[in-house]
Amino acid sequence: MTRTDLSIQPDILKTERLQRLASLVPPCECMVDVGTDHGWLPIALVKAQVAQRAIASDVLPDPLKSAHKHVRMHNLLEVVDVRLGHGLSTVKPNEAEVATIAGMGLKSILSILHDNPPDTLGIKTLIIQTPQVDNTLRAHFVNELQWHVSHEEIILESQKLYHMLVVHPQQKPDAPHAPTSALDQMISKTLQESQSKEALIALSDWLAFRHNLRINGMKRASSPDENALKEAILQHQALVDFKEKLQGNQD
Ligand SMILES: C[S@@+](CC[C@H](N)C(=O)[O-])C[C@H]1O[C@@H](n2cnc3c(N)ncnc32)[C@H](O)[C@@H]1O
Repeated sequence: MTRTDLSIQPDILKTERLQRLASLVPPCECMVDVGTDHGWLPIALVKAQVAQRAIASDVLPDPLKSAHKHVRMHNLLEVVDVRLGHGLSTVKPNEAEVATIAGMGLKSILSILHDNPPDTLGIKTLIIQTPQVDNTLRAHFVNELQWHVSHEEIILESQKLYHMLVVHPQQKPDAPHAPTSALDQMISKTLQESQSKEALIALSDWLAFRHNLRINGMKRASSPDENALKEAILQHQALVDFKEKLQGNQD
């Protein structure tokens, strides 16, 4: 269950990005925020009584100091535990039902999930928010880990894109991820069908830019992989066509 209709502690969660993240957290006994930094998300969720308790976790001492200061400022030291460590290593089995990981790139997210798998810790809902919009994350959850993805969206805030996924490590996926076109390989059907034109245009631009860099790099190589180059050019064209179609629909 998600609560997209409420705004959660807007004096604490001041960006749309953090508001959206909070709105996807289901009511729970305990949640853990991995890479909490300032600690605002667990503080807001406990204050709003979405979570009865929370763990604010970070790998670096300085962010944790700031989280600790904010938790103390809100008189929540008894219900928000501040813990130092890598990823989910700070959580005991069956201690938290919900985990959030926000503000990290794909490599860090994948290493966190690999090193302390959330399904072995009893985590039922995992909410990811990353500035790297990449369909490989969804495919990894569905095809490799066989976890159910219940929600996917992109957020465009101050010209920056964020990818959000709500994943259930203890549930099987509805259907395998089987991209049928070059476009589907890069932007999931769910996103294509559910997101605003503005966000999809920004996403196509961003992906086309990255493809261009890759294509130029491959062309400069002494012996380019012709098949990979051909595929990248096809994908780039699919993004350009998709953007033109979206812009056409806007008129
Ligand atoms: C950009 S901040 C994001 C803060 C907050 N989650 C947000 O979205 O506003 C990333 C935080 O993740 C922490 N971090 C990076 N790698 C981590 C890891 N492997 N385990 C736990 N925290 C990590 C960093 O120390 C930093 O505080």
